[in-house]
Amino acid sequence: MQIEILRPKVDLEPIYLINLQNPHNPWTKEAIKEELNLWAKTSKVLKNSQDQVMGYVLVRNLVDYYEITSIAVDKSIYRQGFGKMLLKNIIDEAKKSKNIKGLLLEVSQLNLAAVKLYEAFGFKQTRIRKAYYKDGSNALEMSLEFT
Ligand SMILES: CC(C)(COP(=O)(O)OP(=O)(O)OC[C@H]1O[C@@H](n2cnc3c(N)ncnc32)[C@H](O)[C@@H]1OP(=O)(O)O)[C@@H](O)C(=O)NCCC(=O)NCCS
Repeated sequence: MQIEILRPKVDLEPIYLINLQNPHNPWTKEAIKEELNLWAKTSKVLKNSQDQVMGYVLVRNLVDYYEITSIAVDKSIYRQGFGKMLLKNIIDEAKKSKNIKGLLLEVSQLNLAAVKLYEAFGFKQTRIRKAYYKDGSNALEMSLEFT
């Protein structure tokens, strides 16, 4: 499995399909397309040896912070360290970028797998936004500060 730069046109469909496996507020295809077109440079895909997309992380460069807007791996490879691999890749990239002070993200409070993953890398809760998602769940805003 390896991590590669994302190609908006060819990677849209597999990313959309993996996103649909997410029980917590999946994105529409249009929303993903727009995100890929804007942020392909900082976003990444995880590919297997047959060149199939098995995961992705979508990342915005907000000048002084990176914002992770979505991260997912295919269900068939859950809990084998690939979520960690994607997140570590982005943290390492962010650390290499001169102006970046840390990372930001939002996650549903019900999404325990993701919250645990972020906490394992040192992300801390900064705010709770009540009933933020369509399913009525609260959003946790989390950040990882480099200093
Ligand atoms: C969140 C997600 C990316 C984790 O990917 P993964 O490859 O299964 O995670 P990893 O194997 O790298 O696990 C890393 C850590 O995350 C936590 N974790 C992952 N899945 C978990 C689960 N089901 N329950 C509890 N903790 C979990 C653990 O702390 C784990 O470390 P450990 O295995 O040493 O205990 C994956 O569950 C996923 O794609 N979910 C759907 C999309 C999603 O919810 N994305 C986040 C919001 S955008």
